[in-house]
Amino acid sequence: MSLFFVGGNWKMNGNKESLGGIISTLNTASLLVLPSEVVCGAPSIYLDFARSSLDLRIGVAAQNCYKVAKGAFTGEISPAMIKDCGVDWVILGHSERRHVFGESDELIGQKVAHALESDLGVIACIGEKLEEREAGTTEEVVYAQTQVIAENVKDWGKVVLAYEPVWAIGTGKTATPEQAQEVHEKLRAWIRANVSDDVANSVRIIYGGSVTGANCRELASQDDVDGFLVGGASLKPEFVDIINARK
Ligand code: G3P
Repeated sequence: MSLFFVGGNWKMNGNKESLGGIISTLNTASLLVLPSEVVCGAPSIYLDFARSSLDLRIGVAAQNCYKVAKGAFTGEISPAMIKDCGVDWVILGHSERRHVFGESDELIGQKVAHALESDLGVIACIGEKLEEREAGTTEEVVYAQTQVIAENVKDWGKVVLAYEPVWAIGTGKTATPEQAQEVHEKLRAWIRANVSDDVANSVRIIYGGSVTGANCRELASQDDVDGFLVGGASLKPEFVDIINARK
């Protein structure tokens, strides 16, 4: 099975006109990936628009969901609502959800479980803050985050693990290929030791944090970098180059 996977995370950017422009670029591009290997993370309010506008080679992801199916949770959306839009993926545990909105590992774990139970694919995000890297605790941090995610996963075939060092997100300070490979390799070894050989060999571990058309190929050439989760550059035509940067 091809291991390459690219997600775009549009975050809270764009409008129907500008998103329509990137959708048109993607719909007409020559993409070197299988349909199940590219998703665009659209804002909730544009999920229907994205699903109905993107051609079916490209999946759509929500950028969050709640941990329970029903209830009086104003402003929240459930996996069932995401599926109702024809959307099959959700991004969970993004550093902005963790460090801006205060989502705990426990809450993220509950969301992962609920999303998977509802037959959504999950792009599960982990990553250390600059001060954690500088303190030499990167491994400790990402292992702990991965542990909580792993406790809530029965079918790893529906999970893509996204390593996104917080200090590289939106900063232009991309992890070097060596830095990315080091953490990805250790994450795969952790999965091998704590989940299984089969999962370690098949799970896609993708990198996010200031990926661009200029740096994607060197990053993609790393043995344990299986693709990308892209923010700013996913809103630009260079997103096509990143999608096509497969090994
Ligand atoms: O989820 C991907 C995002 O956090 C990375 O953002 O703009 O650094 O590619 P960016």
